[in-house]
Amino acid sequence: MSELSRIGVAIDSDLLDKFDRLIAERGYTNRSEAFRDLIRDELVEKAWASPNKQVVGTVTLVYDHHVRLLSEKLTELQHTHFRCILSTMHLHLSHDYCLEVLVVKGKASSVKKIAGALISAKGVKHGRLTITTMGEDL
Ligand code: NI
Repeated sequence: MSELSRIGVAIDSDLLDKFDRLIAERGYTNRSEAFRDLIRDELVEKAWASPNKQVVGTVTLVYDHHVRLLSEKLTELQHTHFRCILSTMHLHLSHDYCLEVLVVKGKASSVKKIAGALISAKGVKHGRLTITTMGEDL
């Protein structure tokens, strides 16, 4: 970790009150850590906007496994992109629904494309790509 720099920030009192309430709800006990996390979040978003940047994240899918050929399609997609899909967790949520969480890693453009193909498959009720960082640049 590099040395700490201290900065002063001028901010509207009303905005600061809103910020304090927001970070309290999120469990922060001080502003500095909340500011640092906001900055890191923006930097991670920026990294994901660079198509060739190596990124890591998770894809969460909820789907009805009775939808014809859906399970096969999702499995086929995962095998096609096995180099980018590092791990998969499958839970049988109920009689009908499954939850899958995939850990994905690779070029930002590839990971987004794979996530899009999985999430947009017919029968997937909800899907989300969560983007995070390899940790080294922050
Ligand atoms: Ni299942």
